[in-house]
Amino acid sequence: MPTPVTAFAPGRVNLIGEHTDYNQGLALPFAIREGVTVRATALAGRRIEAVAADLDDTDSFNLDRPGRVAGWRAFVRGAVAELAEAGVGLPGARLEICGTVPRGAGLSSSAALEVALTLALIGLSGGACPGRTELAKLCSRVENEWVGAQTGLLDQLASLYGERDRALRIDFRSLEVRPVLLQLDGCRLVTLDSGEHHANAASGYNQRRSECARACQLLAIASLRDATFEMADRLPEPLDRRAQHVVSENARVNAAVDALRRHDFEGLGGLLDASHASLRDDYEISTPAVEEAVRRLKRVGALGARIVGGGFGGHVLGLLPPDARAPQGAIEVRPGPGARLVD
Ligand code: GLA
Repeated sequence: MPTPVTAFAPGRVNLIGEHTDYNQGLALPFAIREGVTVRATALAGRRIEAVAADLDDTDSFNLDRPGRVAGWRAFVRGAVAELAEAGVGLPGARLEICGTVPRGAGLSSSAALEVALTLALIGLSGGACPGRTELAKLCSRVENEWVGAQTGLLDQLASLYGERDRALRIDFRSLEVRPVLLQLDGCRLVTLDSGEHHANAASGYNQRRSECARACQLLAIASLRDATFEMADRLPEPLDRRAQHVVSENARVNAAVDALRRHDFEGLGGLLDASHASLRDDYEISTPAVEEAVRRLKRVGALGARIVGGGFGGHVLGLLPPDARAPQGAIEVRPGPGARLVD
């Protein structure tokens, strides 16, 4: 019997560059310290027994016939099916899952779960692990085909490539991942829960994605990465504003990398505010609860604050100057290492 394997995969915070990944644009996420751990133990036979410790729930299925289900089980069955499809010879297994990323918070508990599951299963199979970008694509297929959220590669790449003290500038056209030192000179990044739970598969996320696809069709371009403000202006409402968000957000990612290099935290805060305004007014993914969370951060003196992740609820991110007191319930987030096998 193969020896048991434990894998850990972190969630992520996206500093800036929201709803750009599926538009072949730019983003600047970092892996956080919180994540999902999966312990995989081989079982005789062809069954997968999965235990979601935090939910006090279990699942059991034949690994050759995973079948379609909803909720957290879809991630497990999807991971097993996609690995089999990729030619990984899986043994029967017991999978014990537990996590420290709040679910539905915009901190990508989903990617952490997919990545930890696939790493643990590959480890148990004894097969060679695909490269990190390939694995990110496999995990995103789990989410697209099995969970029903047409999400991009942002979360999986951030979870797999995370580095201590660094954010990652990702170019989703070339899939180049470039680490960028995240040194904040006493400023802090915090997330604050809006109190509104979100799920990408059920929110307006898929609709935004199809609006962008329609905009590309009308402009006869392959992706909104090729759009300009002038081109966006020619689109009908609301596609014009969707495209404007993407074009301006890509520029803000590069400006944020420059601001970090210059240690210009006022400038960085201004970019976070501008990103939020664009996501609220042009991309329309904010909610009253999210706006209240942003206001709470601004009231304590945040240099910038914005919605993160898919939107329609979840957490907001704030950049606090050294002397500001974080609002109650805010959690400091710091960049940590990427997904890995642990002892
Ligand atoms: C979710 C998706 C990502 C990305 C963000 C928005 O987190 O999983 O692929 O599209 O929303 O930037």
